[in-house]
Amino acid sequence: MSISTINIGICGLGTVGQGVWKHIESNRASLESRLGVTLNLARASVRDLKKKRTVRLAASKLTDDPFDVATDPDIHIVCELIGGTTLARDLTLAALAMGKTVVSANKALLCKHGPEIFAAARRHGGHFFFEASVAGGIPIIKALREGLVANRFKLIYGILNGTCNYILTRMDREGLSYPTILAEAKALGYAEADESLDVEGWDTAHKASILAFLAHGTWVPTEKMLVEGITQITQADLAFARENGFAIKLLAVISREADTGEVFVRVHPTLIPKTKVLANVNEVYNGISVTGDVVGETVYIGRGAGQDPTASAVISDIADAVILLNRGNSHLPEPVETKAPLTPLQSITGRYYLRLEVQDAPGVLAKIAGATANLDVSIASVLQRASETPGAASLILTTHKSNEKAIRATIARLKRLKSVLGEPVLIRIADFAA
Ligand code: NAP
Ligand code: HSE
Repeated sequence: MSISTINIGICGLGTVGQGVWKHIESNRASLESRLGVTLNLARASVRDLKKKRTVRLAASKLTDDPFDVATDPDIHIVCELIGGTTLARDLTLAALAMGKTVVSANKALLCKHGPEIFAAARRHGGHFFFEASVAGGIPIIKALREGLVANRFKLIYGILNGTCNYILTRMDREGLSYPTILAEAKALGYAEADESLDVEGWDTAHKASILAFLAHGTWVPTEKMLVEGITQITQADLAFARENGFAIKLLAVISREADTGEVFVRVHPTLIPKTKVLANVNEVYNGISVTGDVVGETVYIGRGAGQDPTASAVISDIADAVILLNRGNSHLPEPVETKAPLTPLQSITGRYYLRLEVQDAPGVLAKIAGATANLDVSIASVLQRASETPGAASLILTTHKSNEKAIRATIARLKRLKSVLGEPVLIRIADFAA
């Protein structure tokens, strides 16, 4: 029996929740006519009932108990827009246990509890949608699940965090410091409530885990990934990139070995040649390159964070959920769990950029060259720059192809040299472009 009025409950009326509310209200006529139902924004939950909201709703619709919304028998679609992995998990499971459909933008939740959530949805006949969890307004989940269903994916790489891309772009263009721009990204609603998730690479890792599952049917926990953020990047690194035809981007790389079937997921700042499309994806935009064995390379670009693009993705899930509720058939191919093997971290190969603060004294360069050669890391170029520290110099090395094991051992050895001051900065050079 078809439902003529769909009741929607929104748990979390912050940046994303208010965006969803606002855009359902403003595009109501066209959405309802396309879906053939009335969309009733029935209830919403917040933490602080007194906080001023940008959307207007009757006080009777608002509660400070998200379970009131998630388990309300009249609500058909529950949107989990709170964030975090504890309360969000509990209320998602509570709604799914009642056979409801849940729409979520929560990548941390999915990365940590994905198998449990999908199993609960299957067990109780409900559904779980998560288009907004990766790359904001870009419909990348739909692209992988539906548009590219004919493919196997040897390589997916991309900029998946709007906050980091915004920070790197503004640092590069305006020479501002990273904390100043981070404060702006927070004010614009781009950053996570805990911004260390953004700048230390974990948010990108959560999203990469979701893409790896969709592409390869295997959940890669963040402990099995290489994860580095952008907090070490300084003007010295950005200047080197600019002067040598690169841009620095925080990339997620999901690769699969053709012969062994091994999957590897890594997140790290990367020097990308300016000739590549993704090197020119700036500000809050995300960009993703997906290479399928049938389609070849496809590239997706769009705003990766913020109220409006994220609301666009959540509303697309609500529309899918309405169709599912009323036509009773899922048109979404479910990823099949394959448990693909994971590539050992140590065997990943690539070229590297290494910036060292060193004593500005004779013989220092020879010692550094010796440390790298002993460990099979071959230097491709060396650049010495003045340092802000008196008596020190900034040394920028790039290497020929090496591997994680050798470069990590080299860094450990370099750190033991008296002439190396402070923490070396390592950036990978993109050599995986399809
Ligand atoms: P937000 O602005 O911090 O909003 C969170 C909402 O949840 C607020 O309404 C807050 O209530 C409510 N809330 C928080 N803790 C609560 C608790 N313990 N009990 C009850 N309610 C609670 O966060 P957001 O930026 O909208 O993000 C929401 C989700 O979307 C997160 O999973 C995030 O990762 C994801 N996401 C965000 C973006 C983005 O650009 N912002 C993009 C994609 C995905 P109060 O308003 O009363 O404090
Ligand atoms: N904090 C996230 C970002 C929000 O900056 O990309 C979008 O997922």
